[in-house]
Amino acid sequence: MTRPDLRRIVIFSGSGVSAESGLPTFRDSGGLWRQYAWEEVASPEGWRKHPEVVQAFYNERRQQAAQAQPNAAHRAIAELEKAFDVVVVTQNVDDLHERAGSTRVVHVHGELAFARGERSGLRQRIGAEPIHMGQLCPQGSQLRPDIVWFGEAVQHLEEARAHVAAAGRLLVVGTSLSVFPAASLAYAAPASADKVVVAPELDSPPDGFEWLRGKATECVPQVVARWLREGAEASRGRTA
Ligand code: APR
Repeated sequence: MTRPDLRRIVIFSGSGVSAESGLPTFRDSGGLWRQYAWEEVASPEGWRKHPEVVQAFYNERRQQAAQAQPNAAHRAIAELEKAFDVVVVTQNVDDLHERAGSTRVVHVHGELAFARGERSGLRQRIGAEPIHMGQLCPQGSQLRPDIVWFGEAVQHLEEARAHVAAAGRLLVVGTSLSVFPAASLAYAAPASADKVVVAPELDSPPDGFEWLRGKATECVPQVVARWLREGAEASRGRTA
């Protein structure tokens, strides 16, 4: 069995990586799905029933995300790019990975900074701006958040899976791994890849992973430092 290329790293992140930037997770105490019924604000049915409620829910989250700052975990992940071929696959809809400096980020659940026509599918960047009912895309259909709601197709899933399947190192951080098909990405890495998962709590930690039971800002920099050290040793070995 050929060993996967250790220089190829995939980070698979969830809301927990942004928790210490002040953005809520979903299923922890205080999480969004403890405050809102996801059926009402994150589903096509909720959009049909009361689109203005859905717009308000995402307008508020878009504002919050724009005011948040990347944390030490986002920054450490971005630092890996100086020595490795890194792809960040995220379930998060904030842009904190990008703002920390990560240049290859695949959003499988959409992005708050974008809107799209509800019928045309035409995407446009809106940054932190709210979307209101009556705001239309160039083809005249109502603008909606470019977010994957429950029951809608996940974005870039096969591209994301291909990155994980080719990774020599996989870091899973800040996700309960409870929402499929996105969560299946954590299980798509080669058996011999170096796999680490960071979270304070996990109902069922994935097999074959080293589990660092702690916060992202404490544990992710440790993993990054270790991988950078291993990478430096390997390149010394290659050039020696
Ligand atoms: N550092 C690291 N991990 C943390 C931290 C932290 N500071 N705080 C919480 N966590 C962990 C929790 O232990 C949990 O395992 O982050 C995870 C958050 O899990 P969820 O709230 O389920 O969020 P997530 O896994 O991202 O949800 C996946 O569900 O509702 C959908 O579309 C939504 O993308 C989201 C998807």
